[in-house]
Order: sequence, then structure tokens, then C-alpha cells
Amino acid sequence: MKILIVYYSMYGHVHRMAQAVAEGVSEVQGAEAILRRVPETLSQEVLEKMGAVDPQKSMAGVPVCSVDELAAADAIIFGTPTRFGNMCGQMRQFLDGTGQLWLKGTLVGKAGSVFTSSATQHGGQESTLLSFHITLLHQGMIVVGLPYAFAGQMRNDEITGGSPYGASTIAGTKGERSPSDNELAAARFQGKHVAEIAAKLSR
Ligand SMILES: Cc1cc2nc3c(=O)[nH]c(=O)nc-3n(C[C@H](O)[C@H](O)[C@H](O)COP(=O)(O)O)c2cc1C
Repeated sequence: MKILIVYYSMYGHVHRMAQAVAEGVSEVQGAEAILRRVPETLSQEVLEKMGAVDPQKSMAGVPVCSVDELAAADAIIFGTPTRFGNMCGQMRQFLDGTGQLWLKGTLVGKAGSVFTSSATQHGGQESTLLSFHITLLHQGMIVVGLPYAFAGQMRNDEITGGSPYGASTIAGTKGERSPSDNELAAARFQGKHVAEIAAKLSR
């Protein structure tokens, strides 16, 4: 079973969450986690101005995803930073290149799930996840969230991401915060949960 984790990360927060999702996937027997990035659409000049060049070096080893890899996957878990309460443009551009998959119904019946990151606590994590789900539904995918069985999303003794719609992390307005143990646990839970559902669907 191939569980594709495809994401965009500018400063590394979504990348770190993607690694935790992959760890969760790998806990399921027979499930292989495949980490991929979507292509960058910004110029080097813009990336430099945004301070993204150095952080992106740590992700350079992750191969760029092709549309064919979506077709080959048994389930797909998408990761995107919040941009104005929505998915980032790089992810949108990548998804807009999947018209042929839609036409052939290639993704119909596959599990699809989303995780995210935002600068602020209420800066649009839920709207990013829920609006992303619309694309998954158009593709005929089975939308998988983060069930309350992951009890860490109910804690309020510390600031934390995570909702029934998917795992998330709060990066801070300067990107100074790293994903917390609780947020990484949510990401692992989501990865494992999707892989278990994919296993049931393949039976
Ligand atoms: C153009 C742009 C729009 C953004 N919009 C939001 C937003 O609506 N809410 C928010 O909390 N953070 C917003 N952010 C901050 C990013 O979500 C944050 O940098 C990201 O989650 C960090 O993840 P990364 O390290 O994987 O790139 C925005 C950042 C940029 C560059």
C-alpha cells in the first residue's frame, strides 16, 4: 500500500509535520509512506525576499511530486501552509494540473486527508482544511479527518493545533515556533488513521 504525503512548505513547519505523518503511516503493516513536495512556483528572487531559501535547503532531498504519483497511490495526505485562510498557490497550481485524473475518475474512492500550518492560532487553519476538502470531494475521494479518538485535540492546557478536520501547527508570526509534541502526535495519528482506512478499502 502506497500512502503518498504531498506537501508544500516554505519555512519547514509543514515539512516537519509531513515527517510525523509519514511516521504514523509506517506504523501500519504493509503501508509505505512516500514523501513528495509540490513544485515551487515563486522565483528565486521572491523566495530570497521572503527568507525562504535557507529553510527550503533542508527539504531539498524530498523529490518533487508528479501527477502520475497521485494516480499510483492508494491514499493521499496533503499538507499546505495557510495563505489568507486557504491552501497555498503552489498546491493550488499542482491540483489544477490534475484535470486528467478527474476526467478518468482515477482518484475516485481513494482516501484523501489534509494537514496544515498557520502563523496565528485563529488565522484560518480550519478554513484551509475544509476548503481543501472541496477539491478532494470533486475528485471523488473519501475525506478523512482527525477523529476525536486523538484526544490531544481537546486539551486546552497549552496552545495547540489540531481539529476534527486535520492536524495542524501554529508557526508564529515570525515562524519562531516549532510543531509541539502534541501537534506532531496529531500528525502521526492522522497518518496512521489514513493508512488503516486505506488498508480496509483495499480489502
Ligand atoms: C502570502 C501569505 C499569506 C499568509 N496567510 C496567513 C493567514 O491567513 N493566516 C495565518 O495565520 N498565517 C498566514 N500566513 C503564514 C503562513 O501560514 C506560515 O508562514 C506557514 O504556516 C508556515 O509554514 P511553513 O513553514 O511550512 O511554510 C501567510 C503567509 C504568507 C506568505
